[in-house]
Amino acid sequence: MASPLIGYSDRISARGGETISFKISSTSSTPYRATLVHIVRGDPNPAGPAPLLEEKADVFDGRFPSRVQHAWPGSYAIVEGAREARLPHALFVEALVWPTLPDDGPQTVVSRRDAATGGGFALVLTPEGMAFETGAERIVVGRGLRNRAWYRVWASADPETGMMRVGQQPLNRAFAVDDEGEAQAVAGASLTLCTPAPVMVGAEAAGDRPARRCFNGKIEAPRIEGFAAWDFTRRMDTMEIEDTGPNRLHGQLVNLPTRAMKGAAWTGAERDWKKAPHHYGAIHFHDDDLHDCGWQDDFSFTVPADLKSGVYGMQLTCGPHRDVIPFFVRPETGKPTARVCYLAATFTYQVYTNFSRGMFDDAFRKRVADWKAYPHNPDDHKDYGLSTYNHHRDGSGVSYSSRLRPLLTWRPDFLSFNDAAGSGLRHLPADTHLTGWLDRMGIPFDVVTDHDLHEEGVGLLSAYNVVLTGSHPEYHTEETLNALQAYTETGGRLVYLGGNGFYWRVALNEAVPGAIEVRRTEGGIRTWAAEPGEYYHAFDGAYGGLWRRSDRPPNLLCGIGFSSQGTFVGDSYRRTPASRSGDHAWIFEGVKDELFGGYGFSGGGAAGFELDRLDHRLGSPLNAVVVASSEGHDRRNFVVVHEERLGFTTTITGETLEQLIRADMTYVARPAGGAVFSVGSITYCGSLPFNDGDNDVSRLTFNVVNRFGELGLKWPF
Ligand SMILES: [Fe+2]
Repeated sequence: MASPLIGYSDRISARGGETISFKISSTSSTPYRATLVHIVRGDPNPAGPAPLLEEKADVFDGRFPSRVQHAWPGSYAIVEGAREARLPHALFVEALVWPTLPDDGPQTVVSRRDAATGGGFALVLTPEGMAFETGAERIVVGRGLRNRAWYRVWASADPETGMMRVGQQPLNRAFAVDDEGEAQAVAGASLTLCTPAPVMVGAEAAGDRPARRCFNGKIEAPRIEGFAAWDFTRRMDTMEIEDTGPNRLHGQLVNLPTRAMKGAAWTGAERDWKKAPHHYGAIHFHDDDLHDCGWQDDFSFTVPADLKSGVYGMQLTCGPHRDVIPFFVRPETGKPTARVCYLAATFTYQVYTNFSRGMFDDAFRKRVADWKAYPHNPDDHKDYGLSTYNHHRDGSGVSYSSRLRPLLTWRPDFLSFNDAAGSGLRHLPADTHLTGWLDRMGIPFDVVTDHDLHEEGVGLLSAYNVVLTGSHPEYHTEETLNALQAYTETGGRLVYLGGNGFYWRVALNEAVPGAIEVRRTEGGIRTWAAEPGEYYHAFDGAYGGLWRRSDRPPNLLCGIGFSSQGTFVGDSYRRTPASRSGDHAWIFEGVKDELFGGYGFSGGGAAGFELDRLDHRLGSPLNAVVVASSEGHDRRNFVVVHEERLGFTTTITGETLEQLIRADMTYVARPAGGAVFSVGSITYCGSLPFNDGDNDVSRLTFNVVNRFGELGLKWPF
């Protein structure tokens, strides 16, 4: 279901002088309006501070003609260079396939076909087995293929004799299954095998869209005898496929099929594709993959040099329809405009984007309507692609996420949960609890995104007295972790205001713009599990999964690491005796209660949903001091993370499961005046705006930011 008014931009952050292009689809017959807004607060909960999107019509305001633009999911390879190439007189085409939805409708393995005439040919997987099609001729083996089994499949055709053959042979036979076979027939009419069209692998040409009959499953080593042979072990970290044949008919992958997938030759002896590339010659295609929607630009916005760094959006309105496309404005290079830097967790936003949770029921829809929250939920819009928290339609996990498509969850007023005790915000909207609070407290800040930090390194942060994270900085590359580590080792002060941070490893790739890769490998709280032997990223060859499995637990950076996950419910923190010591009492100056934080707009409490704790064995520095710990968590609603568990009741640390369900609010002094303050809870930021910001969580956070930032501010209440 297409949304009536929606769009995306070519970039998510920009500096003064840089231009952002917007790509919009509007089903209206009248023009839409586009206005710049400054996103201060997004939460539409009527019980809290009202949302605040300050219109900046003086900076950008325009009307643009409506037009509809489509998203076309489904991955495949296309070899444009084959358009003019001559086929040999007779055709022989073959490939290895590992189908994942063999009982679905026709799915094309290799084709070169004119969509209008049907001329050319296609080797097609069908529920009745492999089929060969050319013009109006069609033959089929008549025996289905098994799910998730390797087959050699082939077809041949000879225009001279009219003979056509198609066949399938399992590489490993299954007892009592009859799935091998060949069919042959003599064509009734003369065969037109050679047609001036590109070769496609995993799909075929369509008249009304880029491709049709997209394949679900793996394809390896497709070849057309005397014409081309594609070797998917080559150019692995790109979206190109290499033809090793004499015509050098190299191709392009479209819509991010998954590379570095184990192929028919995999034995389990080697798990790293870099060391045994020929065991990783398969590409996994899905008919719901989506990379760059490829929409045309509708207008662009050049950021004025004097626009204050912050969270902005392009607000679109047309009749009853509205959309806001957020982006981040950065300060000029080397010219910070504040002492405080807010690091927007854009890797995490992107990894989660368009997460279809299957929760958008009638009660949830009613709340969205009552609160006038963002109306479009990924449960209704699979056409804009999935998140890496989802499974593909064939049951395999989604490894890639692109930002070059409408990002439904990345909206200031998007509700992730129908939260009985709060607003149910996650990610960008949840982080406006923090930005709105900074605004309320009169704390000026600049913004830097994960993507910027990955690109430019610690130099982006070094001028700031303090760097703040949002509620959930979960995903990081080696580059962003290195930058943050270097910042805290050279006098920088980091305030980690979330939970389950710095947990998964992700990869970017310059050859694949706008995409991010994650492999949900051997451990961790996951929504799917990578297949054995598929733990190394295609994008950078690194061992994917938890940073903990690559010897960089989050504890090394921020003193604490993920320990427990529960429902989206928040509880309180209790001060520790250490919080009263001379070194740390300043953190709690003005904090009224011993047990504090049992309120807020995320799950109704500051300590909830995902909790981190101190663990010296995992690298928490020896000088880390826990100044408060959370309590009150209902064991029935929380589990200890898998990576801490050994058996039914046993844990790696030897503590009880109950003992590991807690958030440790932790202070770590670092060299050269640096420091790290961590709260270890996803719901923490939701408490900041409670009671207009006059509460203990707010006071404590104010004390830390004020001191770390050397701001010299007075508590405003
Ligand atoms: Fe997460």
